[in-house]
Order: sequence, then C-alpha cells, then structure tokens
Amino acid sequence: MNFEEVKKTYNDYVLPTYTRTDLCLVKGEGVWVWDTNGKKYLDFFPGWAVSGIGHRHPKVVARLEEQLARILHVSNNFYNELQGTLAGKIIEYSFPGKVFFSNSGAEANEGAIKLARSYGKGKRYEIITMENSFHGRTLATLTATGQDKVKVGFSPLPEGFKHVPFNDIGAFSDAVTEKTVAVILEPIQGEGGINTADVKYMKDMKKICEEKDMLFIVDEVQTCMGRTGEMFAYKHFGVSPDAMTLAKSLGGGLPIGALVVSEKIKDVLGPGSHASTFGGSPIVSAASLGVFSAIEEENLLENVARMGDYLVSSLLKMKEKHSVIGEIKGKGLMIGVELNIDDASGIAEECMKDGLLINCTQKNILRIMPPITVNKTDIDLAMEKLSKVLEKV
Ligand SMILES: Cc1ncc(COP(=O)(O)O)c(C=O)c1O
Repeated sequence: MNFEEVKKTYNDYVLPTYTRTDLCLVKGEGVWVWDTNGKKYLDFFPGWAVSGIGHRHPKVVARLEEQLARILHVSNNFYNELQGTLAGKIIEYSFPGKVFFSNSGAEANEGAIKLARSYGKGKRYEIITMENSFHGRTLATLTATGQDKVKVGFSPLPEGFKHVPFNDIGAFSDAVTEKTVAVILEPIQGEGGINTADVKYMKDMKKICEEKDMLFIVDEVQTCMGRTGEMFAYKHFGVSPDAMTLAKSLGGGLPIGALVVSEKIKDVLGPGSHASTFGGSPIVSAASLGVFSAIEEENLLENVARMGDYLVSSLLKMKEKHSVIGEIKGKGLMIGVELNIDDASGIAEECMKDGLLINCTQKNILRIMPPITVNKTDIDLAMEKLSKVLEKV
C-alpha cells in the first residue's frame, strides 16, 4: 500500500483520537526506521520510548522466534514457563517483592491505584500526584494525571486524587490528610517536559510516607529499562519505593506493563483481587527477557552513561551557536532541550523532513530519547540535522 491508501483506511475506519503526523513507518532496525517511500529516518524517539533498545533488537527477535514455535498465549489460571522468570529478573534489579503483569502503562498504574486503595482498607483512599505528571488515559489514571487537558469532557471523574507542585516538599506535606494513603510520582517527568525530582525531595517524601504509613509509588513507565543509566530511575535517588509501575521499553516493542510490589505489601492484592487476560503471556515475556539479555550482555547501562554525556556535551556546544536553546535537562538518554520560543512543534516536524525523529512536549521542550544502543556516529548525525533546522529559527 502507498501512503495515501494507508491514510484512507484510517480516515474511513480509525477513530480520530490522535493528532497524527503524515508518516507511515513500515520497517525498523536499530536506530533506523523506513517509511512507505523507502525514506530512512534516524529514530531518536522510538515509539514513545517503547523501542528503547532499538527496533527489532536481535536478542528480542531471537527470543520471539523461539517462542513463536512453542505457544503464544496461556491464560493466567495456568502457569507459563516465562512469566515467573521475567518477574524474577525485574525483582533482581529492583527490590524484594512480587510482580503483577498488565499490557500497558495505564493498566500498571490502575493496579497501583487499586493496591493503594486496598492498602487503605476503605478508610484511607486519597492519592497525591504531581502537577504536570502523566499516568495514562483510563478514567482513574487520567484523573491521577496532573494535566487538565486530558480530563476535558470526561466528568464525573473518580474521587480521591490531589495534585501538588513537583519538587515542593512543603506542598506535598501540607496536602497529606488522615485520608491520604499513597503518593504516585515519576522520578523524571516525561510528558511534563523532562523534569527531574531532587534527591532530597525524594528522600523527604519517602520519610513522610514512612511516618504516615503511606505508600511511596514510582511511575517508571517511561524511565525504566536503563533509559536514565540505571535499570530503574528511582535508583539515582537513594530511596526504595513501596511499589513501581513499568511498561513501554520493558517489552522491546511488544505491549506489556508491570506493577512491582515490595515485600511488606506483597499480600495486599490477593487471589481474585486483580487480573488481566493477556498480562505476562509467554510471547511478551519472551520479548522482555530478550530486553534484559541485551542490556546485560551489551553493557547498555554503561553505554547510556557514556552516550548521555556525549549527547549533552554536543547539545551544550550547539547552544553556543543557537541562542534559541535554553536549559538542557534530564538524565542519561532522557533529555529535554528547552527552546526559547512559544511553540517548538514545527522544529520536530522540520527535523522529520530532514530524516530525524524527535518529539516536542509542553509546547517548547524537545524530547530526545534515542535507543540506548545509540553510538557517537548516530548522535553526531542527529546533532547535525537538528543544528541545520535550528539555523532557520
Ligand atoms: C510516565 C507514564 N505513565 C503512564 C503512561 C501511560 O502508558 P500507556 O500509554 O502504555 O498506557 C505513560 C505514557 O506515556 C507515561 O509516560
């Protein structure tokens, strides 16, 4: 099918809930993707962080091929060979506890919300989240999200969510009442514009949670699997959460989500309390185990540290040339470039025309999150393309 034929199928049959760019991708390999005309793009925002280790990583493909010859789906009232091994792998890199598998980030957060409410035993149910946060598009997770634009038209919204300014411990502490049972926050806000929590803020928040017997829950849907240089971003802050949620690059391109629950609360959600038909199926678990193998065997966490430094130093050099560049923020390979203009979405579009895919969020923040397999040559090429586009501003 050519692009116009593809577009017609969407216009005729697909609900128009997305603002879509005129681009149909048909092939991906590593940091590269190709469109219907065979044009090639350097993908520095791979599938909104889903293809975190690059497109069709050989280790993911090999695990999938092996699993395709065995069985694709096993319902969760039976055991499958891989789900428990994958849960063990997640626990090995995080904290002692247990894992529930879902299919997306929003569902992982729904699980976290149910966990918190169940922990509150009907007496405490309020959950505090952050302004500018993003937690998903289901009714509960869009209510948890600290951005009004996702809520318009969906009232009445579920009760029990409060938003406070990010990185303001006083505001958090003031918002706690006898009904508060948990806080959910992204250690680095993604959709919110790449805002990193302060170490002291995270530590103080954890302390307050301990004092008030509240759950400290981190949403690592976007930051997980090495994106920031640690397997999970909370590790940069010297605190261990009571629970965390994962998705996106956990599946290497396949849909998966996970709620990871620490030892002390592992019995809160018992038999019959939560379920997902597809969650943790053998095929997605195989892909996810491939992601772990790639990160371990190719030393990708070290690569993130090295390439993250290289990307930031390249951007700082570019800033000397382009006064439109403001703050450069983030950690590892989760980088936000603030532009001193009102609307930077045109910049991302121009980059696309020149064969570079990046994202623009919060109107003026360019979000640059290349696959964690990226090398210096890829970064140099991306910087060359971005610089050319910025010259025109
Ligand atoms: C931090 C965070 N949480 C949750 C979600 C929702 O994930 P999903 O789109 O897989 O439901 C996202 C998606 O961008 C996210 O960035």
